[in-house]
Amino acid sequence: MNNELSATTLVIFGVTGDLSRRYLLPALSEICQSSEIRAELKILGVSRREVAVLDILDDKTRSLDEQFQVMQMDYQQPQEYQELSEKLTQLGSAQTIFYFAVPPEAVLPIVNNLGAIGLNTAQHKLLMEKPFGTDMASARTLIEETGRQFKEDQIFRIDHYLAKEMAQNIAVFLGSNVLFRDVWNNRFIEKIEVAVEEQIGIEGRGKFYEQTGALRDIVQSHLLQLAALTLMEPCPDVFDMSEVRPRRLAALRQLKADPASVVKGQYDGYKEEAGVPDSAVETFAAVTLTSADPNWQGVPIRLITGKNLDKRLTEIRVYFKKSQSAQANLLRLRVQPKEGIELELWVKKPGYEQDLQKLPLDFNYQQYFDRLPDAYEQVIVDAVRGRANLFASSEEVLASWEILQPLLDRWQDYPLKIYKSGDLAETILAAQ
Ligand code: BG6
Repeated sequence: MNNELSATTLVIFGVTGDLSRRYLLPALSEICQSSEIRAELKILGVSRREVAVLDILDDKTRSLDEQFQVMQMDYQQPQEYQELSEKLTQLGSAQTIFYFAVPPEAVLPIVNNLGAIGLNTAQHKLLMEKPFGTDMASARTLIEETGRQFKEDQIFRIDHYLAKEMAQNIAVFLGSNVLFRDVWNNRFIEKIEVAVEEQIGIEGRGKFYEQTGALRDIVQSHLLQLAALTLMEPCPDVFDMSEVRPRRLAALRQLKADPASVVKGQYDGYKEEAGVPDSAVETFAAVTLTSADPNWQGVPIRLITGKNLDKRLTEIRVYFKKSQSAQANLLRLRVQPKEGIELELWVKKPGYEQDLQKLPLDFNYQQYFDRLPDAYEQVIVDAVRGRANLFASSEEVLASWEILQPLLDRWQDYPLKIYKSGDLAETILAAQ
């Protein structure tokens, strides 16, 4: 494996923002200190207001000090891009990656300004955060307009769940183990649940969340991608990563949402927190999908997400069918926390009686590996290397909106259940 990354300048638009400070800079700091990878990275933070490097870096990211510069620039003004272009020439890296930590409406103007000044040639890449549109039509516009300036292979759309270690492992694990590979279909599997449960609420991001809601924030991206990884046909060579993206897309294209299965909820106190007394935005959403793939017909795939729940848990639960003589098994692919795989097995309960007992066979990453790289580290390293597998293609983005659009068309019609902070997902699902 090539551990040396080509010399790169990373330009961060909106460097003082939440995304940059919380995710990107800590990940960059880890990469630059890693002994596993040799990275020649220069970082150019772009900020509209004047700000000093040391005001941006904190204890965790201070080590980036020497390779970090800040440029004050109003990225809405086309004439300011000349200076940016000159700066990049001075820095002289082999490639430049533009990362966007700016509000969604600021993205296209920046993309167009970069294109207009010629900062869109093959050695320039875009590293973009969701949202990729708010529905089918806006996603299509965003993709088409970005496509006028940058080619698809220059665009890296982050879905950081794809880069979580356990998510990367799904295709490898299912493709490499004969125990699962041959029973991974509707003959043996009864139903699948994919859950992204969060303990945190909206954390002061009311304005953002009011335009988003759980369906757009988590279902359209993270949950559909985890479902696609679970349902996709395993690659003949599980490490042939170039195959994963088209297979995820093929799985997504078979999916349909059942409009009668929707559950929408909002935690009590959300309206006050968001500052919108009559808000109908959902902080909890569940929907069941069905697949037209002959391997998966008849297997319901339930997607569930919510904020302010009793715990933080992302996992895929695969329920195997009971047979005439044997009991049903449950396999859990645990994405976070405590990344790992758990299989519920039936064994004889020790003692004089003849009783069955269900016990977990549990593999936990932490038992075997010192440290799992953070998803953002993987995202940056793969964007620098130009490996597209961990990113959502334009076709995947459109396919996922296509699944949800029929629900969005009547979204206001679904009743909103108000739930208590700390409730269990099951309680909300069961409530009338
Ligand atoms: C983001 C969502 O994509 O993922 C947030 O916009 C959510 O609302 C976050 O909290 C969860 O990510 P993680 O990695 O903390 O599970």
